[in-house]
Amino acid sequence: MMDKVIEHKAVLVDRVKEIFSDVSGFVIDATVGTGGHSYALLSSNEKISVIGVDRDSEALEVASVKLFPFRDRVVLINDKFSNLPQILERLKIDSVAGILVDLGVSSLQLDDPDRGFSFRFDSFLDMRMGLSGRAAADILESLSVRKLAEIFREFGEERQAYPIARKIVEVRKKKPLKTTFDLRNIVYEVKGRTKEGKIDAATRVFQALRIYVNSELEELKNLLSSALDLLSSGGKITVISYHSLEDRIVKRTFKSWSVGEKNEITGQILPGSVRGKMLTKKPIVPSLVEINENPRSRSAKLRVFRKCI
Ligand SMILES: C[S@@+](CC[C@H](N)C(=O)[O-])C[C@H]1O[C@@H](n2cnc3c(N)ncnc32)[C@H](O)[C@@H]1O
Repeated sequence: MMDKVIEHKAVLVDRVKEIFSDVSGFVIDATVGTGGHSYALLSSNEKISVIGVDRDSEALEVASVKLFPFRDRVVLINDKFSNLPQILERLKIDSVAGILVDLGVSSLQLDDPDRGFSFRFDSFLDMRMGLSGRAAADILESLSVRKLAEIFREFGEERQAYPIARKIVEVRKKKPLKTTFDLRNIVYEVKGRTKEGKIDAATRVFQALRIYVNSELEELKNLLSSALDLLSSGGKITVISYHSLEDRIVKRTFKSWSVGEKNEITGQILPGSVRGKMLTKKPIVPSLVEINENPRSRSAKLRVFRKCI
């Protein structure tokens, strides 16, 4: 794997540095990936130590090399970020000054033909970010038309979800569906190869399946449900998301933390239920210059919340 040399370009790096410039103490990089954001944080703010988490052990190998100059201020953990409470307990750390979450997949995963994330390469349809759980090919083999259609519609907002699901079940009766090209060809057969705006006809189905395989939305909800307990007072959580399903969850959660809960009878805000302030009314997005340099940044949206109590 180490001889493949695939680079992941971290997104909105200068903004992330700015956000954490007044922070001192532990910052959890919950999706450390190949270490781009962590490197920027550690080199720009010497008061920060990083707890870098990723479910992908290959990414952590790359991160450990990149972050070697800061080895006294870094610990890397191969785990899912929904396990952050247990991770901190094991490290005997009560709370942290910051949490950074850069969702989605890294270029290391997308551009590696062996990982089966992309329909650009013909390979086993795997799509797992970590090694546990079922590969996408197993899921295509076993789920009903209804369930497959639900996945494509819910996680990919795919309009032709049902015809694609029906075709998958029809084809798999004749031969097993094993590869990225097997799936891509079914989508093209149903939808044609015409692009939808800038995106390929197969993009939505691949995105949907990846989200399902890795339980991405549940992971995000679990992380957010424990994040405030892990942050110290004044601590900040920053989330970068790449599609509307994720961004909606982040936006609604941050909003609910900032407006608090109402007493159902009096309509008054319950004491202690306002947990802090949303520091980004509108999400921060990459500049045109950044998008030109790194087209994968184009859909990024960054939101920040500061915990007060
Ligand atoms: C966009 S990349 C992060 C890139 C990183 N910020 C950098 O600068 O290199 C997303 C990373 O999050 C990881 N990831 C996604 N969901 C995760 C989860 N639930 N728990 C832990 N890691 C996760 C992926 O394996 C991937 O390496």
